[in-house]
Formats: sequence, C-alpha cells, structure tokens
Amino acid sequence: MSLYSGRPHAARLSVLLIAIIFSVAVVSYFATSLVRSSEVNHTVDLLSENHQTALAKHARNASLGFGEIVYISMPGRTDRQDAMNMLAWFSGITLKLMPGVDGTVVPPKAIPDSAPKDIPASVLGCFRAHANAWQYLLQTGMETLLIFEDDIDWDANIKNTMERLSLQMQNSKIRQQLPSDYERQNAPYGIDWDVLYLGSYKFGGNPELKDLVQTWDDPDVPGLKGIRGKGGIVPALRMAGLNDSEIGTKRMITPSYRTEKNTAYAITRQGAARLLFLLSYIGDLKAGDIDQDMNRLFIDGSLTGYTLTPPAFAQFKVGGSKDSDNVPKVEGETVNGKGNLKGQSLYIKASARHLMVQSLMLDNWNDYKKIAAPAKIN
Ligand SMILES: *[C@@H]1O[C@H](CO)[C@@H](O)[C@H](O)[C@H]1NC(C)=O
Ligand SMILES: *[C@@H]1O[C@H](CO)[C@@H](O)[C@H](O)[C@H]1NC(C)=O
Ligand SMILES: *[C@@H]1O[C@H](CO)[C@@H](O)[C@H](O)[C@H]1NC(C)=O
Repeated sequence: MSLYSGRPHAARLSVLLIAIIFSVAVVSYFATSLVRSSEVNHTVDLLSENHQTALAKHARNASLGFGEIVYISMPGRTDRQDAMNMLAWFSGITLKLMPGVDGTVVPPKAIPDSAPKDIPASVLGCFRAHANAWQYLLQTGMETLLIFEDDIDWDANIKNTMERLSLQMQNSKIRQQLPSDYERQNAPYGIDWDVLYLGSYKFGGNPELKDLVQTWDDPDVPGLKGIRGKGGIVPALRMAGLNDSEIGTKRMITPSYRTEKNTAYAITRQGAARLLFLLSYIGDLKAGDIDQDMNRLFIDGSLTGYTLTPPAFAQFKVGGSKDSDNVPKVEGETVNGKGNLKGQSLYIKASARHLMVQSLMLDNWNDYKKIAAPAKIN
C-alpha cells in the first residue's frame, strides 16, 4: 500500500510543482510586459512634441541653453570686456570672464614636446586660455560650456536661431546612437558630442560621408549675397546638397570635419576631458594653434563634434588684423572708438553690435520735442 500510495502523491506533487512554475512564468511574463509597456509610454512621453518644444525654450535662457557662457579676454583688454558686457546686456545673456593667458609666463615644462619650438607666445597663451576653459567646465557640475572669444558678434535674433538648433538636435538624424533618457529630458542640444562648433568659417563635411547632413529653414540666415564670396562656404553648402535658392535660407549641421576659428564653440564634459587628454596629457599639440590642431583632430577622427553652417557667431572685424593683441595701437583701427562703429562681421544678418549701438544712441531733447504735448499730471 505504502508503495502505491506514495506514487500518486508524488505525481500530485509534481503536477503542483509544474503548475507553480507555470504560474510564476505567466505572472513574470505579464509583469515584465507591464514594465516594458510602461517604459514605452515613458519614452513616448519624453519624446512628445510639447516636451521637445519646452526643452528647446531653454536655448533662450541667459546661457543659451548651455551650463554657462564664458568669454576669453586678455586681462588688459578692458575695452573689449566693456563691449562684451554691453553686448550681453543687449541680448539678455550672462557672460563670465575667462582671463586670457600671457604665453611668456607658461613655463617650458608645461609646453607639450610636440609644439613647434618657435611657437609664438600669443599662440601658446591662446591655447592655454582655452585649455583653462576646458578645465573650468570639469571643475563645475555643469554638462556643457559655451566658449566665446572677445571679438565676437552674433545676430540680434540669436535666441531664435538657438531654439531652432535645439529642436533640430533633439531630432537629429545624424547621431550615432539614439538619445539617452538623460539627453531627452535635460539636454537642449544633446550631449553626444565633444565640441559643438557655432562660429566656424570653414565648412566641409567628411567627403566620404556626404549624407551626414541635416538642414532646416532659418529666416535669420543672411541671404546668398551675405554668404557668397567671403569665406568660401557656398561651394561647401552646394556639396551638401543645397541649391542656390536654399543657400541663404537654411542652416545645417554636419559632423565636424573641416573647421576654422574658435570664436564660439561649446564643449561637453567628455569633450573637455578629451581635449585636455589629446592636446595636453599626451601632448598632441602639433600646430600649437588650437584652431588648426582641433581641425586636425576632427579629420583624423580623435575628436567628435557638429558644425553649424552658416555659423551663428562671427568675429567682429575692426581694422583688419590690426586690432590683434600683438600689434601696437593704431588710431581709429582699434576696437576702441570709431573702429567699433565701422566694424563688420561675416555671415551675420542683423549684427547685434550694430543694433546695440542704435539702441544706446540717444537724442533725448529732440525725442521730447517730437511728443506733441507732455502728459498732463493732475
Ligand atoms: C500607455 O498608457 C495608457 C494610459 O496612460 C494606456 O491606455 C496605453 O495602453 C499604454 N500604452 C502602452 C503601449 O502600454
Ligand atoms: C539654461 O538652460 C540650461 C539647459 O537646461 C541649463 O543647464 C542652464 O542652467 C540654464 N541657464 C540659466 C541661466 O538658467
Ligand atoms: C531647390 O530645392 C528645393 C527643395 O528641394 C526645391 O523646392 C526648389 O525648387 C529648388 N530650387 C531650384 C532653383 O532648383
């Protein structure tokens, strides 16, 4: 009896066991699909148009959607610092001074071996000032930093342009990976880049990857006339597939390849670390001039970024190169005084510098006289 009674008991037990295992499997299947569907909903929510539009509005804030904006200026160029502070006031942004560096005080041991032996002190100082800005980002908790040089100009509608750029970068078709949840939630321009070039005069995507281009309408781009023949970006825009009626109405982003001018660029924390690694830690500073060195690093693929073309920021040129910090003052050709009023910037439709001057010029008593009768106070 005990032999026979044991078997059905064991059979019942194993049926029970199978049933338990089965129900655990069923429950966990539904549990995970619940998690999955709530994740799907979560993602859909983050990608909603409203969320993107709201995030793009950060591009209109006082640091244009970046952690902060710093500008590099030699401590002695107080005239340029005056101008930068006025410009910040005019455009509703906040700038922080990042002191320029006198190259003669950089000790030889701090200069990478690869740097040219005859590197001019000004070029070395320029590299060092930018490297200090990269360090500065890593010292803060910020994700991104926008870096300006102190001879910069931009369009009076810069916030519109940056908001449009943010929407494009949130919907970028030229990223290597889909944006992370962090990026979707917090990063108006994503953070899948080391460097975001916003003031490069030289454009040229990677000729082997011509399709990596994203274009959009931007009414604040100077027309074809404003672009043609100046920095040679028209042939590059054509190469990127834009026809002549689109050039002068659209901006585009492309992975950075040929770049020039560090007038305005943003970096991520990873970008800051990588630039310090490449140009200081392993000392791959070949030209010494960071414009050229960064251009080389993009071309050889050790640095990653995007370039905005036509650029949103430009150098404000006063008296040619004579305003450079290396050349003695020539009356009327320095930034100071008349030179300021005559200066020009490439690729900018409505120069913030020129409009700032208009908004500060006052003819108070004539303005009073234009009013038919002063308001009566009872
Ligand atoms: C997303 O959530 C809604 C309710 O908020 C629900 O009706 C819908 O079925 C969910 N979608 C998915 C794919 O789970
Ligand atoms: C501007 O927006 C960015 C991105 O959200 C943020 O990191 C930064 O702190 C904001 N700046 C200001 C001044 O609010
Ligand atoms: C330029 O391209 C746009 C968009 O592809 C097209 O609508 C337009 O007709 C083109 N214009 C010319 C002059 O080819």
